[in-house]
Amino acid sequence: MGKHTLPEMPYPYDALEPHLDARTMEIHHTKHHQAYTDKLNAALEACPAEIRDRDVEAILSGIGGVPDAQRGAVNFNGGGYDNHRLFWAGMKPGGGGEPGGALADAIGASFGGFAEFKQKFSSTTAVIQGSGWGWLAYSPSSGKVEYRSMPNQTSPRTEGLVPLLGCDVWEHAYYLKYQNRRPDYISAWWNVVDWDEVDARLARAR
Ligand SMILES: [Fe+2]
Repeated sequence: MGKHTLPEMPYPYDALEPHLDARTMEIHHTKHHQAYTDKLNAALEACPAEIRDRDVEAILSGIGGVPDAQRGAVNFNGGGYDNHRLFWAGMKPGGGGEPGGALADAIGASFGGFAEFKQKFSSTTAVIQGSGWGWLAYSPSSGKVEYRSMPNQTSPRTEGLVPLLGCDVWEHAYYLKYQNRRPDYISAWWNVVDWDEVDARLARAR
């Protein structure tokens, strides 16, 4: 693997209005995601080739194998790099609604139904202390989907899980439009979730 590069956005910055505002999207992508990308590359330059040459999913899944001196930076910036690319691609204009098919079945099996899942995801993610992400993740060991709150940029991959759908609740994701009203931001975010993409991720994870 060469250096990681900032992925292009799959839609214009204003495409998710009014739920996510264009100015926030642009800063989030061009400043925050770019910074994680650059700092991941810098941290990997200090790692042995056997680590550096892996793709970021493998690096995060095997975070314990990263040398002590670089592990914190790789965990933070590698998570930031991967989480945000999943975030952009997990949303679309005209998204929202409910999942169907295998994803709906998996959510039903783990949470009792979509309404129960949405309630748990929203309420638990809203009270994450400080910065972090709420995730729907797939557990290869149990064969089930589960909810996870993760601090800062730590990826569910570091716990052996496959991230399927993440909601970024760092203030940089919502402060310009929602200020301190994180629950309002989460409510709006559901309107842009791309359930087809999340279902495809589940299929790949299985
Ligand atoms: Fe973010």
